[in-house]
Amino acid sequence: MGSTDASPSAVAPPTAGDPGRAPAVEAMFTRIAPRYDLSNRVMSFGIDRAWRRIALRELGDRADGDVLDLCAGTMDFSVALAGRAKTIVALDFCQAMLDAGTSKVPAGTPLRTVCADARAMPLDDNSLDGAVAGFGIRNVPEPERAVAEAYRVLRPGGRLVVVDFFRPRSLLARAMDLSYNRVVLPLVGGLLTGEFSAYRYLAASMGAWSDREGFERMCTAAGFRIVRGRELFPPVASIVIAEK
Ligand SMILES: C[S@@+](CC[C@H](N)C(=O)[O-])C[C@H]1O[C@@H](n2cnc3c(N)ncnc32)[C@H](O)[C@@H]1O
Repeated sequence: MGSTDASPSAVAPPTAGDPGRAPAVEAMFTRIAPRYDLSNRVMSFGIDRAWRRIALRELGDRADGDVLDLCAGTMDFSVALAGRAKTIVALDFCQAMLDAGTSKVPAGTPLRTVCADARAMPLDDNSLDGAVAGFGIRNVPEPERAVAEAYRVLRPGGRLVVVDFFRPRSLLARAMDLSYNRVVLPLVGGLLTGEFSAYRYLAASMGAWSDREGFERMCTAAGFRIVRGRELFPPVASIVIAEK
């Protein structure tokens, strides 16, 4: 954390390519961590659960192996993987988010939490079968470094599955973005957490970073083969499946 200028309104948009904004992003998540799950459930009407199920299905039997929950936050993906994955590594650079999620993971789950930056993961090369990243990579300054790191830590044949709010392209997705993402989300998120500026930032970050096709090119540049990418329903979020 440690930034004197860490107010959410000071956080530059994700495409600004400013590696220095990471402490402000981390500070913002520290502030919303205690109420993150509540606001998530309310704002998505619980639909994020269905999106997560689709993401795990796309991992296939890799979900039974060693799996990385990248930008894990309060670890909803780790919870969904519990009882199935051989080992789970939940990586996030915000300890408060990881702490807020720890009690949700069933006791005895082979889980390792790692507080680290996605751009420099303290994980071995070729050590994981799958990686799943929910609504996180768009917050990473230099997201291409996070993608390259995911490629490095996956075993050949391993899959990276990303669910995120990409910059919308289709007419329907743009309409949903303008109404839901830009109006409902900052308002409801702000009311539930008291952090209006944080939710304004999160909403702005969706339009400010890559569209899905651009993100797929980022994956290809890192060495991945794109298995598929598509909008989810409702078309506010999309999924990208990339294989090493
Ligand atoms: C919107 S939350 C998503 C959390 C969770 N994956 C989910 O599906 O609900 C984004 C998370 O990304 C994390 N994050 C952002 N930038 C990061 C970075 N550079 N390295 C690691 N984690 C990062 C934040 O701390 C936050 O917990």
